[in-house]
This record gives sequence, C-alpha cells and structure tokens, in this order.
Amino acid sequence: MSQSNKQILLETRPLGLPKSTNFKFVQTDAPQPGAGELLLKTLYLSLDPSVRGRMNEGKSYIEPIAIGEVLAGATVSQVIQSDHPDFSVDDFVLSENGWQEYAVSDGTGLRKLDPRKQPVSQALGVTGVPGLAAYVGMLDIGKPQSGDTVVVSSAAGAVGSIAGQIAKLQGCRVIGIAGTPTKCDHVVNKLGFDDCINYKSDGFLSQLANACPDGVDVYFENVGGRVLEAVCGHLNTGARVPLCGGIAYYNLTELPPGPDRVPLLMRSLLVNRVLMQGFIVQDHLDREAAFLDDMTAWMENGDIVYHEDRVEGLQNAPEAFKGMLMGRNLGKHIVRVALEPGKTQI
Ligand SMILES: NC(=O)c1ccc[n+]([C@@H]2O[C@H](COP(=O)([O-])OP(=O)(O)OC[C@H]3O[C@@H](n4cnc5c(N)ncnc54)[C@H](OP(=O)(O)O)[C@@H]3O)[C@@H](O)[C@H]2O)c1
Repeated sequence: MSQSNKQILLETRPLGLPKSTNFKFVQTDAPQPGAGELLLKTLYLSLDPSVRGRMNEGKSYIEPIAIGEVLAGATVSQVIQSDHPDFSVDDFVLSENGWQEYAVSDGTGLRKLDPRKQPVSQALGVTGVPGLAAYVGMLDIGKPQSGDTVVVSSAAGAVGSIAGQIAKLQGCRVIGIAGTPTKCDHVVNKLGFDDCINYKSDGFLSQLANACPDGVDVYFENVGGRVLEAVCGHLNTGARVPLCGGIAYYNLTELPPGPDRVPLLMRSLLVNRVLMQGFIVQDHLDREAAFLDDMTAWMENGDIVYHEDRVEGLQNAPEAFKGMLMGRNLGKHIVRVALEPGKTQI
C-alpha cells in the first residue's frame, strides 16, 4: 500500500503579508522512486524569508513558485528507500523537499549529515544557508578588522545572530539591532554582542548614535527601511555594507509613502566611499568547505551559540512562516514535520 503525502501548495499569490487563502493543503500518494533514485521523508523544514519573494511573480535571481506548486524550502530528510549507490536507507541528508512529507531525489545536491557530529536540524541554520550567508557576507564582503564597529540588523534571527558572532571572533565591537527587548537581551546576554538596540523603541536613533561613537565600519544589512536609513547616517569612510536582504520590503504592495530618502543614501555612499554589495549565497558555494571547517571548529569550541525556534507539524508551517515575517521567531525558525528515529519530543 502506498504512503500518503501531505503537501502545502501555493494556491494564490499574496498581496502583502501572506494569508491562509494563499496556501492549499492537499494529500496525495507519496511519489515512487525510480531506478537510481531515493525516497526521502521530511523531518525538518526550514522557513526562509526568501520564499515570500518567490510567492510573487516577476524576474528575480530564482524562478517564482508556480501556482499549484509545492512551496519551496530546504529540508533535513531521512532516506527511506534507496536505489542509489551513494545513499543507504536511514541516512540523513540536507535536501530541498519543500513543504511536503515525502519527495523523490536522484541524489543531485544532497549533503549527507552525520547525527553523531551535530544535531541534524542544524544543517538548516548555522551549518546551512543562513550560516553560509553570514560567513560570506561578513568575512568576504564586510572584511571586518579587529577594532572595527560592526552593526548587524535582524540580529536575533538566523543569519544576523551568526553574522554578529563571526564579527566578534574577528575582534570587532558588535552592535545588534532587533525588534523586541527580549530579542535584544538574547543578543547581548546569550550571543555575546556588545550592545543591541530595539529599532521599534522611541529612543532608537539616539541609542544607535550612543552605541556607535566612532561610527560604523561594517553594516550587515538584512532588513532595509528605517533601520538602513538610521545606520547610513553613521557610516565611516570606507565602510562596507554586505547587502544580504531587505525584509522590511518583502510584503510591500507599493512604494512606501513619505519623502524620498534615496538622495540621503546616495550621498552617504558617495562621500564616505562606501562599498555596498548585494550577494546571493548560492553564488558562493565554493566557500562552503572552508565555512563548514571553520563553523564546526567554532561550534566545538563554544565560540558560536546557535538557537533554533521550532514549530511542530507541517500543518502549522503557513502560520509560522507569516509569524517569522512579522518577527515572532527567535533564531532559526524551522518546522518539525516528523520525528527523528529514536526521538520522542521537541
Ligand atoms: N542573500 C542571501 O543569499 C540570503 C540567504 C539567507 C537569508 N537572506 C536574507 O537574510 C535576511 C534574514 O533572514 P533570516 O532567515 O535570518 O530571517 P530571520 O532574521 O531569522 O527572521 C526574519 C526577521 O526579520 C525581522 N523583520 C521583519 N520585518 C522587519 C522590518 N520591517 N524591519 C526590520 N526587521 C524586520 C524580524 O525580526 P525583528 O523582531 O527583529 O523585527 C524577523 O524575526 C532576510 O532578508 C533574508 O531574505 C539572504
């Protein structure tokens, strides 16, 4: 008898923040692997802000998700059938199953995970795409020098939390920016940043100025909006701005009202000879081996603290995804889709 496969499809394209009507829950038969293929069972699903962009139509660095298609997402899976010489039943792999319980793979792009070395779910965060984005953005573009002042936005999130800790390891003074007092407390007292400022508080601008008396040498940009505008006023000559994301804009349905701030941004970039460079992690896979070596050593030494925010059950993925876009997550947000063998609780 064939296995059933719960899936979540893109039903309609969201206008603004996604709603439940944008998602469709279906149950089909699990796919059957063919010659040379594997059947993967999803254990953990990564929730990523970039999926919001892919729910829209239009040209980007990656194709949009089609209407009726399974929502995209990195997954940690267990191999449950294999006709592939490199993978055995019960292997754990980093895969791209998307928002569904089962998927077939021909093995392309899979990374084997060893549960004896680290919890397998970490491959969706600190040793996965968010960690690599933090590593490449901070080290290769930000080029932090000992003594630099580094500011990181969305500092309590998956990428920002790692980017700031990497800058600390380079001997920098690191200031986080996050959206609640609880997050700021976590960033300073658990992650070891020097300071963290709540961008929603009344005193945000003056607190930022006080926290950066020598200006800002590296601004790791995850959000845009008023946080970018505020930090721009403090950029030092020769500052570097790795442009990782702009989550403040992902749900916009039209350009924000108010005065045009582009002249201020342009002036700051020009007179301070700032390097602002967008990057997409998939272009930097040549750095993955060095990243994994460094990150593994940092984790073993306790130099990097990693926090996961888990939600239970695939059916809760849409609400959790929406919550992440609104700032409800602390650290890397993932969904536990099925129990790992031998585990009984979150
Ligand atoms: N370039 C790449 O290759 C690459 C790879 C991975 C991720 N990214 C980007 O990196 C950024 C962070 O991703 P992540 O996975 O680490 O997500 P995350 O930071 O774990 O979660 C998203 C966070 O964004 C913050 N946020 C939401 N709306 C905001 C607003 N208007 N202004 C300021 N902050 C806002 C919220 O935290 P608060 O409570 O602090 O507001 C929320 O928790 C995203 O922009 C993502 O697209 C880029």
